Amino acid sequence: MQGSSTLIAAKVAADMRAEGIDVIDLSVGEPDFDTPEFIKQYAWEALEKGLTKYTPSAGMREFQESITSFYARRFGASFSPTEVAAACGGKQALFNAACSLLDPGDDVMIPKPYWVTFPAIATFCNAKCVFIETEATNFILTADQVAAAITPQTKLLIINSPNNPTGRVIPPDEMQRIVGICAEHGVYVLTDECYLFFAYPPAEAFTSASLPPELRQYVCVAGSFSKTYAMTGWRIGYTIANETWAQAMVKLQTHSATHPTSFVQYACAKAMQDADATISAVNSMTSEYERRKNWLIPALNGVNGLKCAMPEGAFYAFVDVREMLGDRFATSADIADLLLREANIVVTDGAGFGADGYIRFSYATSMENLERAVDKMKAIFSVTA
Ligand SMILES: Cc1ncc(COP(=O)(O)O)c(C=O)c1O
Repeated sequence: MQGSSTLIAAKVAADMRAEGIDVIDLSVGEPDFDTPEFIKQYAWEALEKGLTKYTPSAGMREFQESITSFYARRFGASFSPTEVAAACGGKQALFNAACSLLDPGDDVMIPKPYWVTFPAIATFCNAKCVFIETEATNFILTADQVAAAITPQTKLLIINSPNNPTGRVIPPDEMQRIVGICAEHGVYVLTDECYLFFAYPPAEAFTSASLPPELRQYVCVAGSFSKTYAMTGWRIGYTIANETWAQAMVKLQTHSATHPTSFVQYACAKAMQDADATISAVNSMTSEYERRKNWLIPALNGVNGLKCAMPEGAFYAFVDVREMLGDRFATSADIADLLLREANIVVTDGAGFGADGYIRFSYATSMENLERAVDKMKAIFSVTA
């Protein structure tokens, strides 16, 4: 198994910074905001209450209930607290879901471009990755593409919407059709909703937890506090799945992390109960991301050789650089390399996402950094009219 290419890019940036180089890091998949103050206060409150001991592996009951009530209120979703299991971040939620379901030799459908960890998880489980090409539909997965990829060995589809790296969002009715096709074939769907709230109008934040029960029984939602609440370092996420799947995940977790940190669970539970404050904190962050996106995409399209469609969600611009390939650059990795060496701009090459010829720019950074990066790229690649 190879290390995560996105984390490798982040390390390059950190190492350069440590050498005193003025790096513009557009590789980060991490909010540049601080965790909202009221959530930090809840963590203090938990420590003062002495919540420093083990909790159940599925998480504190209060944590499970808070997720249930928050989803009911925000999305009209209806599921039981026992279908919720706490995990140490979205990544562990995904691992728990896949490892408790997959057997060696199972086929796992993974749309391209994919988040780097999806194939790594399937491979870890000795399952076989069946990649689905989505370029023809502007990187938005469709039910027809899923139907065409199902084999008798297919056990799982892993999707991510809003998507990292493309920023694309699958519309709710298409998502329902995708899960419907899977359910018809007895295929499960692991839906990574870690960017759930990062859908810019007219795109909608949609969770598969709100699907009708006959579809939802095939779904595991992997949720995360990392991006939504600017809490990447707190390491907390959760799964929402039918009770059998939930119990299998919890059993697995009893032998790994045991549970996410007790006072972090408490802080998150309180934040979910304080839904108005939480939704307003999230909205203020997402409106800033939207402002940056609205500036960045036209600016990138003004740089010679770069082409980028307007993303509907997450905080990434996925830029097509294939026009630049030829004599000067053989691959998009060469372009990423040049940006690093000549402009100290760190970006992530598309190859790690299964999309050679593309480069991912994160706009989870200041407008000032974005403006400096675009200026430098204009100088390097020369401006279009
Ligand atoms: C698509 C996607 N899923 C999951 C994660 C993992 O997030 P967490 O910090 O909650 O483990 C990330 C983080 O970059 C991500 O981009």
